[in-house]
Amino acid sequence: MTIAPAPATAALRSPTDVKRLANAFCHAQLLLTADELGLFADLDRHGPSTQEQVTERLGLAGRGVNDFLSGLVLLGLIELTGEVYTLTGVAAETLVPGTPRYIGGFLRRASRMLYPAWGHLGAALRTGQPQTAGAGPGAFLQMLADPAQRGPYLTMMDSASGLVAPHLIRAFSWTAHASVLDVGGCRGNLVGRLLGAYPHLHGAVFDLPPMAEPFGEHTAALSVAERATFHAGDFFRDELPTADVVMLGHVLHNWSPEERAALIARAWAAVAPGGALLVYDAMLPETPADLPRTLVSLNMLLVTEGGSEYPASHCQNWLAAAGCTTTEVLPLGSTDTLVIGRKPR
Ligand SMILES: C[S@@+](CC[C@H](N)C(=O)[O-])C[C@H]1O[C@@H](n2cnc3c(N)ncnc32)[C@H](O)[C@@H]1O
Repeated sequence: MTIAPAPATAALRSPTDVKRLANAFCHAQLLLTADELGLFADLDRHGPSTQEQVTERLGLAGRGVNDFLSGLVLLGLIELTGEVYTLTGVAAETLVPGTPRYIGGFLRRASRMLYPAWGHLGAALRTGQPQTAGAGPGAFLQMLADPAQRGPYLTMMDSASGLVAPHLIRAFSWTAHASVLDVGGCRGNLVGRLLGAYPHLHGAVFDLPPMAEPFGEHTAALSVAERATFHAGDFFRDELPTADVVMLGHVLHNWSPEERAALIARAWAAVAPGGALLVYDAMLPETPADLPRTLVSLNMLLVTEGGSEYPASHCQNWLAAAGCTTTEVLPLGSTDTLVIGRKPR
């Protein structure tokens, strides 16, 4: 099989290009460190600022700050005009805490979980074992029981489902259905956005018991609590409530192929006649041509016991094994793929 190089590596033509690739982690650390130090929030709050003002307000020592700010300018995250720094448009849109498109959850996950784990990629490949603490059985419950992990996890999941929501709102015939159940739907961010877009729709989330409280708070904040219900349980053991549309989003990639097939069968059984099962993940193309999705799949190697991304055809096979004969595969934005399985009336 021939695999065409992805755009990020297509320009590798010289030793210098290869050395630049070897240091690509420096780019990520400039972004993650700027977020951790509060630079983006600071520039948003105070507006155009000199290096001295930034150094003082962030409590930095001074050494290296000029290079740090220059690096961020060269990455396109801030701009230098005369002597003052400001946020670029994309930074103002995505990196300022408290704004609707803030991706702070992703940044936290990248800096605290994935960056250390990627330092052990070799060990993961040698052993087949995850490289993060607490990745074994009960990992989700352990993480939800720890207030220091729970908050960042919830905002990270909101970041993920917030990016998918506008696409999912348009990709499916929601007006033809009355109810939706999001299995592993976290604190209801996606269901909340669907209910916001479709006032006729009633929504439910099935997730682990500790998610009940954040679900109540979050759906109230999204002004949809009256049409939203939480069902607590273990999706491998407890019966799922029936709905017209059942969703499994960013869930299957956490589990082994056998567990994915079992989850699909349980979710399919919960779909009402005439309804549909919607599955989305960063599914892999049939030939490995997508570098970001390949990297997401390696993330799952590093942080779960059996997870990975998978091709849409595997999902269709699990649906067929569950008894679903009609499936469609659609892109969901540029990052995800949606598989729809339809149940006859
Ligand atoms: C990766 S998140 C997906 C969140 C959301 N669907 C999205 O698209 O962003 C996986 C979710 O599955 C839930 N979960 C994990 N194990 C579970 C189990 N055994 N039973 C029910 N929910 C579970 C977690 O609490 C979490 O909310």
